[in-house]
Amino acid sequence: MARRKKLYEGKAKVLYEGPEPGTIVQYFKDDATAFNAEKKDVIEGKGVLNNRLSEFFMNGLTQIGVPNHFIKRLNMREQLVRAAEIVPLEVIVRNYAAGSMAKRLGIEEGTRLPRPIVEFSYKDDALGDPLVPEEYIIAFGWASQQDMDDIVAMALRVNDFMSGTMYGVGIKLIDFKIEFGRVYEGDFLRLIVADEISPDSCRLWDIETGQKLDKDVFRQDLGNLNDAYTEVARRLGVLPSNV
Ligand code: C5P
Repeated sequence: MARRKKLYEGKAKVLYEGPEPGTIVQYFKDDATAFNAEKKDVIEGKGVLNNRLSEFFMNGLTQIGVPNHFIKRLNMREQLVRAAEIVPLEVIVRNYAAGSMAKRLGIEEGTRLPRPIVEFSYKDDALGDPLVPEEYIIAFGWASQQDMDDIVAMALRVNDFMSGTMYGVGIKLIDFKIEFGRVYEGDFLRLIVADEISPDSCRLWDIETGQKLDKDVFRQDLGNLNDAYTEVARRLGVLPSNV
């Protein structure tokens, strides 16, 4: 393939200029990081699994009418996506208490929340992605009130789709993080789901056993991360059962 210009390298992905204007090639690395990159490792094959899983989830969103950046998978590690101007927020939806929420509020991990809760972190590695209220987001101009209304509505639809899909294969969706981007369509500006949706950015627990099948396996040294992600992919039919 012809040489492509690297646009950005993040912790788990590299973005290259795409073949057409307005497109980007998103490459999934094997690198795993946690605690704002204080813990690092290379998990061979993780990028391949996440490329497949993000394709699966984004295609599902397209089917239910949630606009997203995915165009097509190019190969084992790369997918073609729409170029979008990323809104500098991590949008987190929680169904059960876990992670930073469980810690901050002293709630036992796994406690069902009264309803799905949407929260926002300001994307800034140097600051450790601090939790921010909607008021900050609007006051600082990171997104408008209309954007935030759209983001919350879309995040809850993504949650419904993801929860139902995972429940169907015996997995509880505890929480997840998504990101949004802006694309220009003629005179219109539209928000779409961007980045990735994979077990790197979700918490997924087996309904029967409570076994963790997500990046907490790496964060908490609970076993082999690839085995966990492969199990998720296999249950979703993303990989043939003999892989
Ligand atoms: O750590 P915390 O409990 O706030 O994480 C909530 C959810 O967001 C988890 O599923 C986690 O994997 C995801 N997350 C992420 N990237 C971050 C922070 C959190 O994907 N930088």
